[in-house]
Amino acid sequence: MSITTIEGLTTDVGTKHPVQQAWLDLDVAQCGYCQAGQIMNASSLLANNPNPTDQDIDNAMQGNLCRCGTYVRIREAVKLAATQMKTEA
Ligand code: FES
Repeated sequence: MSITTIEGLTTDVGTKHPVQQAWLDLDVAQCGYCQAGQIMNASSLLANNPNPTDQDIDNAMQGNLCRCGTYVRIREAVKLAATQMKTEA
């Protein structure tokens, strides 16, 4: 079994994963405490479902709590990353 950490999403040449870039583009993080888990969960969601609905996103992300309440920006970032990943494919 292989394990990918958040550091493993970025390529050796420093190119960010579309989910990481979407997080930056939309200023998702507030305190940042929960964000590694949020990004990894979003990456897993998009690997398995490249076109998630709002409900798909909410269902997939419900196990990651954010005390800062960034859920609206998280949902938008997942959608932005999904669009970017389709463009790159
Ligand atoms: S950004 Fe602060 S807990 Fe999620």
